Amino acid sequence: MKVPQMDLKRQYLTIKNEIDSAIQHTIDRCAFVAGEKVKQFENNFAEYCGVKHAVGISCGTSALYVALKTLGIGKGDIVITVPYTFIATVEAITLAGARPVFVDIEKQSYNISAKELKAYIEDYCEWNSEHKVLVDKKTNLNVKGIIPVHLYGQMSDMDEVMKLADQYNLLVLEDAAQAHGATYKDKKAGSIGHIGAFSFYPSKNLGAFGQGGAVITDNDTLATRVRMFIDHGQRTKYYYEFEGWNFKMDGFQAAVLDVKLKHLDDWNEARRHNAKMYDELLKDTDGVILPDKMSDREHVYYLYVIRVNDRASLQKYLSDSNIGSSIAYPIPLHMQNAYQCLGYKIGDFPNTEECVKGVLSLPMFPELASEEIKYVCEVIKKWCNHR
Ligand SMILES: Cc1ncc(COP(=O)(O)O)c(C=O)c1O
Repeated sequence: MKVPQMDLKRQYLTIKNEIDSAIQHTIDRCAFVAGEKVKQFENNFAEYCGVKHAVGISCGTSALYVALKTLGIGKGDIVITVPYTFIATVEAITLAGARPVFVDIEKQSYNISAKELKAYIEDYCEWNSEHKVLVDKKTNLNVKGIIPVHLYGQMSDMDEVMKLADQYNLLVLEDAAQAHGATYKDKKAGSIGHIGAFSFYPSKNLGAFGQGGAVITDNDTLATRVRMFIDHGQRTKYYYEFEGWNFKMDGFQAAVLDVKLKHLDDWNEARRHNAKMYDELLKDTDGVILPDKMSDREHVYYLYVIRVNDRASLQKYLSDSNIGSSIAYPIPLHMQNAYQCLGYKIGDFPNTEECVKGVLSLPMFPELASEEIKYVCEVIKKWCNHR
């Protein structure tokens, strides 16, 4: 048996007619950029997320950047996030001109640790009550925002994040690129902070047939600014109120996404079903740490990630058995060459550093068959017994 880590073709074949006709419709209407299809998808996605506004954007990285710019975060500001994420989270901060400050994750959820967040604020910052701003004592920069990343499909502890944000006047941008449809106490990913950013990269739970992203918010002013920013700062054609950029979503992606959105809940349910099978079949396997799901959150398993000690050996064993797997992420951002300028060192984020050594993503997609999951689990158990 051959089991891929993910298989986009299988999903396409289940909705081929719907997709093909939506694409043909886009061609017939010549609605290629930010047209009628984009508007339709934006309305449906906003409703799905339980917010007033969704704005389609060219990719998730740009969505994060646009969100920060629109929140007014830039030069001289600090944005807190985690070192255990895809680089886009941090690129957006630096491209906006701000400085990233990392806090460690919690090992169970792989998400930002509220305890560490509080410790950074209380131990390294000072509250300026006159200007109502939190100041980092070492750099003297103003701490303006937090980006919790909802990694692998499970949301961060948003009550704790929002409590600290309210207390210290911080803006919260949720990086929901891996968490379409995930919930925290029944609220959808991206809808709790001031603004949320999504990626629709093809492999995501809601994936385009190319690049795509979105920003969601309940705030009318923010939504208007996002719309203007992604269209060169214009509200009326050729009247530029400020300088923006071209980050608009294209019509084909919106057409595909609008078809797929109708299936997202079923697909997420199928992912949960698959995860439950893995959980049950692997639960007593020595040396394999399974993903923890928090009782107040609905996980959408963008990835099903286990942790083992001798990862290279397991990955080879899986590969020799025709099973795909991947590592997200092998090196944390504070240890990457790109961020040596931030001055962090090995040992600064022990939970992150421990997790990156052992994480392995097993095959996970809605169309994965029970037989395939059983086979993957048998192979993992065989590896455990032969070690
Ligand atoms: C956590 C996270 N943030 C941001 C992004 C960036 O999204 P995109 O690839 O659409 O630019 C991704 C995409 O992989 C991601 O996983």
